[in-house]
Amino acid sequence: MSGIQHADGHNVKGKYIVITGATSGIGLAAAHALAAKGANLGIVARNAAKANEVAAKLRKCSSTEITVDVFIADMSSQRSIRQAADEMSSKCPRIDMVINNAGAMFVDHKLTEDGLEMTWAVNHIAPFLLTTLLLDKLKLSEHARIITTSSHGHKMARKGIDFDDLNGKRCFGFWGKLKGGPNFRYAETKLANILFTAELAKRLQGTNVAAYCFDPGLVDTNFNQDNGRLARMTMAVMKRFAQAPEKGAETLVWLADTDAHNLESGRYYYDKQTKTPSAQAGSMDAAKKLWEASESQTRITRA
Ligand SMILES: NC(=O)c1ccc[n+]([C@@H]2O[C@H](COP(=O)([O-])OP(=O)(O)OC[C@H]3O[C@@H](n4cnc5c(N)ncnc54)[C@H](OP(=O)(O)O)[C@@H]3O)[C@@H](O)[C@H]2O)c1
Repeated sequence: MSGIQHADGHNVKGKYIVITGATSGIGLAAAHALAAKGANLGIVARNAAKANEVAAKLRKCSSTEITVDVFIADMSSQRSIRQAADEMSSKCPRIDMVINNAGAMFVDHKLTEDGLEMTWAVNHIAPFLLTTLLLDKLKLSEHARIITTSSHGHKMARKGIDFDDLNGKRCFGFWGKLKGGPNFRYAETKLANILFTAELAKRLQGTNVAAYCFDPGLVDTNFNQDNGRLARMTMAVMKRFAQAPEKGAETLVWLADTDAHNLESGRYYYDKQTKTPSAQAGSMDAAKKLWEASESQTRITRA
């Protein structure tokens, strides 16, 4: 990247940042930190009451006057994402960053209205679609960034993305679940976040838009609380080792705020440093194939 650089740690002031999953956990903590640094926010959420409450608190936590807009979208619905992206495009003269953070895990095999498996749709297809729909607005920014929340858990997807079973049928049902299939499914989507970032950065080479993803570590949030008692009990044990959301959001906030010369587009970060992800996450052939499959699943051709 070239052009004017701001002093380190002051990049987000006055910028317009679209963030998903800002009503809870890591995204909520990140939104607070970004608002406190003077960023204007467009929070994308499925629950209007919750989002408006968060937005009101965010407006108060900055010493400067900031804008906090709410856009309603269910990340499992392409129609809903398209509608929110249209609203953002009409409202915002330019968008400086998109933070794809909303995520979930489903233990049962459910299909979305678009016929896609839920974990895949929310965790991978939603970031792909929202980002591609907002690219024209990002290109109007001096230095735009796309940041996606991945996970160390991507390493569980040892066989990579199963392109013959994009709806992950093998992960569910009695035997699939017995073998921990929903966890593998989640891992596949977090691997997809890394491959998406790498391919996006490649396609955006030579433009003003960069892409990064990161692992927040194990964080005490509301994640996996809607999947029954066993999941809640497992999470309760894991939470003993988890860090606070504010800590889990630190790398995300740093990726948004640090000088561009500290960053490398297309890379995976942990603890404010680049980290080498799994071998599967390093395959540019898989990244290209994933991009093409995602274009087909969203009927979009951009970037
Ligand atoms: N917690 C961890 O240890 C950990 C570790 C690695 C990676 N991650 C990743 O971190 C990200 C944030 O998760 P979290 O741990 O902060 O969990 P969380 O507290 O459950 O927050 C998830 C956020 O995503 C939103 N969301 C989920 N499904 C949505 C949908 N269909 N449409 C719109 N918004 C939706 C939630 O909205 P509502 O408020 O409406 O539910 C919430 O704002 C996820 O991508 C997750 O994979 C988490």
